[in-house]
Amino acid sequence: MIEQLEELRSKALADLGQVDDAKRLEDWRVTYLGKRSALNQALRGLATLDASDRRVVGQIGNDVKRLLEAEFVARQSQIDRKTREFELVRERLDVTLPGRPLPVGQVHPITKVVGEIVEAFHGLGYDIVEGPEVETDKYNFALLNIPAEHPARDRWDTFYVKTDGVPIGQHLLRTHTSPMQVRVMERSRPPIRVVVPGRCYRYEATDATHESEFTQIEGLAVDEHLTFADLKGTLTAFAHAVFGAERRTRFRVDFFPFVEPGAEMAIDCHVCHGAGCRLCKHTGWLEIMGAGMVHPRVLEGVGYDSSTYTGFAFGMGAERIAMLKYGIDDIRTFYANDLRFLRQFR
Ligand code: FA5
Repeated sequence: MIEQLEELRSKALADLGQVDDAKRLEDWRVTYLGKRSALNQALRGLATLDASDRRVVGQIGNDVKRLLEAEFVARQSQIDRKTREFELVRERLDVTLPGRPLPVGQVHPITKVVGEIVEAFHGLGYDIVEGPEVETDKYNFALLNIPAEHPARDRWDTFYVKTDGVPIGQHLLRTHTSPMQVRVMERSRPPIRVVVPGRCYRYEATDATHESEFTQIEGLAVDEHLTFADLKGTLTAFAHAVFGAERRTRFRVDFFPFVEPGAEMAIDCHVCHGAGCRLCKHTGWLEIMGAGMVHPRVLEGVGYDSSTYTGFAFGMGAERIAMLKYGIDDIRTFYANDLRFLRQFR
């Protein structure tokens, strides 16, 4: 009898360990503590035992009963607590509500325009490279045929960077992406065809068409027998890709110390088709970049034989291109971070 009671206790406790909801707990209670439970039957059968056995077995039977009752109460409060927590969560979590849309970011309009420009040149066989924004005087000016004290330096005033052990004036934030012409030529041999997008900096007052930090895209092609006709053909193909196949182009003489001859390229105004409007300041033309044949001194400066190799280079401002493309009249809107403005370029 004693063994039976102990077995019953072990089985009841083991079963209780498996119980994890109110319904199964009630079944357990009926099985082990109910009127018809084995334990109750055993306790009722005590009457048939003799007095000394009855005392010992009765004591054990009652201990088992008290233990099972106490375990039942503990389990019940555990299950109650879990049920309440679950209901609290369910009250807060209404799974029938429609989801909240997550804010999705988008590409900045300048990044988008840079991507389109670079893609147009990529289609013409150009590689895309990037270069340092902190440059040395040598690459930003000297090797581009702009020696110290040359008046052309006034055109590109910049921010100088203080570096330990380097004389002031040697390190600067690049004023244009043209230093990459030299860096690319130094580390490779013709044929070269690259475009270089990147940030540039100038020390100048900002206005509707000038920022002190802006984006340029440089281009360089060097090979045997390249001529100004190649320059014109390439840049016209680019203008057609970015501004539409019907665009006309115009090349006029301009001066940049690192090209000879130098040119300024314009496209006919895509708003008035050359008739004259506010966008083109009633000229019918929109200037979009500086360009020219790489100056022999720049070629010689990197050790190229300028009687064998010729090249052309160009540089444009991505913000100005974006302004023309989208009809934006103030460059500062690109960096003012007004989401109402930026969201228009999805
Ligand atoms: C240059 O920077 C030459 N490196 C371009 C070049 C490359 C010529 C290769 C010949 C051969 P420029 O200073 O004109 O040239 O600047 C080129 C373009 O950068 C301008 O047409 C304009 O679109 C843009 N730009 C210049 N300054 C600013 C500024 N402050 N804010 C916004 N865009 C600017």
